[in-house]
Amino acid sequence: MTHTQFLASLVCPKTGQPLQVAEDGQSLTAPDGTVYPVLDSNIIDMVHPRELFEDDAREQHLYDQAYQRYDRGVSWVFETLNHSDEAATRQFMIGLMNLQPGQTVLEVGAGTGKDSALIIEQISPGGTAVLSDLSPNMLRLATQKLKAEDVNIHFFLGNGSYLPFADGTFDSVFHFGGINTFSERKKAFAELTRVVKVGGKVVIGDESMAPWLRNEPTYQTLWKANPLFRAEVPIADLPANVENFKLHYIFGNCFYVMEYTVAAKAPEIDIDLPIPGKDFVDNWRLRAEKA
Ligand SMILES: C[S@@+](CC[C@H](N)C(=O)[O-])C[C@H]1O[C@@H](n2cnc3c(N)ncnc32)[C@H](O)[C@@H]1O
Repeated sequence: MTHTQFLASLVCPKTGQPLQVAEDGQSLTAPDGTVYPVLDSNIIDMVHPRELFEDDAREQHLYDQAYQRYDRGVSWVFETLNHSDEAATRQFMIGLMNLQPGQTVLEVGAGTGKDSALIIEQISPGGTAVLSDLSPNMLRLATQKLKAEDVNIHFFLGNGSYLPFADGTFDSVFHFGGINTFSERKKAFAELTRVVKVGGKVVIGDESMAPWLRNEPTYQTLWKANPLFRAEVPIADLPANVENFKLHYIFGNCFYVMEYTVAAKAPEIDIDLPIPGKDFVDNWRLRAEKA
């Protein structure tokens, strides 16, 4: 997929309606007149809402300031957590998607591209990696680091809670490290799931120390240093149409990673199933008599 074809495939992040591509290919316009411009480094700015909610605006600012320190800083955090092997752990997370050459993958909150490089490796040759972040500076750094001859790579600036794609666009979606602070986290889970094909994989992770560690003194010191470690795993935010859900703890059991497959619809409960007997107790009596 060329850059022009990628632009033409995008839809309005607010309404899902088609967008008009400008003749010079430098912007997209929504039916309500909102213009989404192409920035430097061929990054299209699809952020919605144009004025971000407070938490999202704060995170965008924070990462825009910290982008040069980020790679070393985050590796240091993982070293403190049980001397974790960052490279092996990132391989583990990407491995959960079971990616194949030629597949199309979206990464939300890709940051400087630490996991994106692994995604690109696994969908090569012929795959398409769509990489996004809310921070222009983080994403610019990713554009400089990530190159591939046999994989299409497209970048866009975006809010993970409003994805500019039609339903079922991707084979897999990946997000690691930011969702705890998204202003509209439940909406983000719905979006991250919506854009994956039925049968495709979603892998999402962030800070949350395992419940059985929370009273240990060293872990208390840790969450005092960074209250995000006390975040609960946001299982309740998942949409209904998921199956094969699994939860893993990584990085010294201080981060969670969840994986699930996208289903066509929620599991069915047949509340009209005829049950012999007057009630459940009677039903058990009848069964016992039959046995
Ligand atoms: C801790 S970094 C993780 C970066 C990368 N995934 C990694 O593992 O190194 C969190 C990233 O999420 C991005 N982010 C924060 N809020 C976001 C949002 N609402 N939508 C998309 N990205 C967001 C930040 O800009 C930052 O790059």
